[in-house]
Amino acid sequence: MGQGHQRRGRQGGLMALTGNPLHPVFAAELHGIDFSRRLTDAGVTDVLDAMDRYAVCVVHHDRALSDEQHVAVSAQFGPMQRSRVLTVAGVKPRLARGEIIDQSNLDDRGNLYNEGDRRLLYKRANRLWHTDMSFHPVRATYSLLSAHVIPPVAADTEFADLRAAYDALPVAMKARIDPLTVSHSYWYSRTLAGGPPASAEEQASRPPAVHPLVHRHPRSGRMSLYLASHASHILGMPIDEGRALIEELCAFATQPRFVYAHQWRVGDVLIWDNLCTMHRATEFDDTIVRRDVRRTTCREAAVD
Ligand SMILES: [Fe+2]
Repeated sequence: MGQGHQRRGRQGGLMALTGNPLHPVFAAELHGIDFSRRLTDAGVTDVLDAMDRYAVCVVHHDRALSDEQHVAVSAQFGPMQRSRVLTVAGVKPRLARGEIIDQSNLDDRGNLYNEGDRRLLYKRANRLWHTDMSFHPVRATYSLLSAHVIPPVAADTEFADLRAAYDALPVAMKARIDPLTVSHSYWYSRTLAGGPPASAEEQASRPPAVHPLVHRHPRSGRMSLYLASHASHILGMPIDEGRALIEELCAFATQPRFVYAHQWRVGDVLIWDNLCTMHRATEFDDTIVRRDVRRTTCREAAVD
């Protein structure tokens, strides 16, 4: 599949899937597919093939998917993350489905958070470059972010291609980092972003996880960095030295030549591969304008 090249029609007689690249090294918008309907097995394969090539794909719809449609299509791409593990006193979900992660700036009654609200402070950690759920031993594969309400101000989501970044590293750096493993902690990134220190109960709800710094993508076979703001230190290396190396690699990987910025429209569903990209939300006045985006996440394996 690719630009100007159509595969045979697989979507129940609809037009074939095509990819329109949005950046020189990755990211594409997909045409000929509709995430509000159940995909055929061949349609799922086409999307995953596109993901192996582009790592970030957007599918436009006229209106936002319902939460049921969002969950249904996500479940076709692998075992799903279900209810939140996070324990924060007083939190009540705005959305009923346990598979939907609320990435809005709205409380359980649909109101904007006040400045200083603990939940808003944690959400602002999404402004750091990260990979979803790297703090868990079972890594996230695909995240699907669905746009319900988009503010009339710039509030892009930025993505970095960690395959292209790895490919561009000097040979000596690759040799240095290939054997390294990294500890990822949810709470490390939250406090890094200015959030309050986590309680012992909160820390226990999300202990750190260890992952290789470099890995071969299980589907595409391409080598990739695996980085995130959750990456707190490198095993077997002094903390400061490890953090400096992680920061150096993040700075390298988020150069403009590896970054795509998505400008949202209501109805967009963006799917990205957490095994070979990083992303971040960009800053906007989140106590003034509403932004309602909702995420589902698939995992490498089913998790209870
Ligand atoms: Fe994220």
